[in-house]
Amino acid sequence: MKIEGKDYKTIWLKDNCVKIIDQTKLPHKFVIKDLKTVKDAINSIKTMEVRGAPLIGATAAYGLVLSILENNDQSFLKKISEELINSRPTAINLKWAVHRMMKKIAGVNSDKILEIAINEAKEICEEDINFCKNIGLNGLKIIEEIYNKKKKPVNILTHCNAGWLATIDWGTATSPIYHAHKNGIPIHVWVDETRPRNQGANLTSYELNEEGIKNTIIADNTGGILMNRGEVDLCIVGTDRTLANGDVCNKIGTYLKALAAKDNNVPFYVALPSSTIDWETKNSKEIPIEERSSDELSEIEGVDQNGKIIKVRIYPQKSKSMNLAFDVTPAKYVTGLITEKGICEASENGLKELFK
Ligand code: MRU
Repeated sequence: MKIEGKDYKTIWLKDNCVKIIDQTKLPHKFVIKDLKTVKDAINSIKTMEVRGAPLIGATAAYGLVLSILENNDQSFLKKISEELINSRPTAINLKWAVHRMMKKIAGVNSDKILEIAINEAKEICEEDINFCKNIGLNGLKIIEEIYNKKKKPVNILTHCNAGWLATIDWGTATSPIYHAHKNGIPIHVWVDETRPRNQGANLTSYELNEEGIKNTIIADNTGGILMNRGEVDLCIVGTDRTLANGDVCNKIGTYLKALAAKDNNVPFYVALPSSTIDWETKNSKEIPIEERSSDELSEIEGVDQNGKIIKVRIYPQKSKSMNLAFDVTPAKYVTGLITEKGICEASENGLKELFK
C-alpha cells in the first residue's frame, strides 16, 4: 500500500540485508531499517519494530535466511529457530513460519540451502499478500451488502492495527476496507486508539490517511456508546491466534468490543489468513498471553516541539501497573471469520468446511 504516494511492502530482501519499516517511529518518522543479523531480526520482533502476526512470521522466516548467511551450521539453525519462536509468545504465525522454513532447510548441507531459504521466505510473503487480498475480496461482500441497504457511508470499527503494516500488504481487517474504498463505497473507520502501544492511533489511522480513507481515532472505551447510538455498522478486527473451535485471541480490549457488539446487534467479524489458525491448542486457557513491561503503560511517547520523539511518565512513581497484551474472545461472540477461502462460522464445523 502507499506511503506518501509510493507503494511499499513491510519487509523485503536487498543485497543479503532485510529491510523493514521501523514501526516504533511511526507516525512521526518514516524510517527504513536494515536487519543484518538474526539477532537484529529477533530484536526487531521483541521491540515491536515489526509487529502483527503475519509480519512477525515473515520476519522470523527472513531471520533464518540471515542466520544461514552468518553460520551455516545445522545445530546453530536449530538453536536460532527456537529463539525466533520464543521472541514473542502469542501470535501463532511465528511458530508456523519457523516450522515451515525448518522443514525446507533442516538437514540440507549443500550450498543450495541459502537459495532454498530465500525462496521459502519470499514464498511466505507472496502467499500472505495473496491471502490478505482474498480476505479483502471476501469481506468486501459484507460491506457491499450494508452499503446497498443503507446508501450512506459505512461506519466500521477496528481495534489495534490489523492493517497492511501488520502483514506484508493489504492487511487482514483493513483489506475489506481498502477493497470497498477502491470500489467506490464510502467508508468511515472508527479507530480504537489501542492503549498502551497505540497501534490504532499510530499505525491504523496513519495507513488509512495515506490511502485517503476517512477515519476518526477514539479512546478505547468509546466503542460501546457509539454502537449503542447506532453509529457503528460493523466491527472488523484481526487476530494473533484463532483456535480450531473459533475462539479468537487478539489485542487486549477486543473481547470487550465483542461484548458491546453483541449487546447492540452489531456484526463482529474477525479477519485472518489460515496461517493464524492454531489447529492444535484445544482450550483457549492454554494460549500463552504475552505480558509486556509495565513501563509501556506508565510512560507515554510522543513528539516534543522540536519534533524529537520523547517518553514521559504519566503514573504516580509508587503505583504498580500490569500490561497484558492480548485477550480471548469466545467464538459465540464472533459473527464470522473472514479468511482467504471465504467467510465461515467461528466454530469447528465452520473452519473444517473451509479448510478440509
Ligand atoms: O502486539 P501486536 O501489535 O503485534 O498485535 C497485533 C494485533 O493484535 C493485531 O490486532 C492483529 O490483528 C493481529 S495482526 C493482523
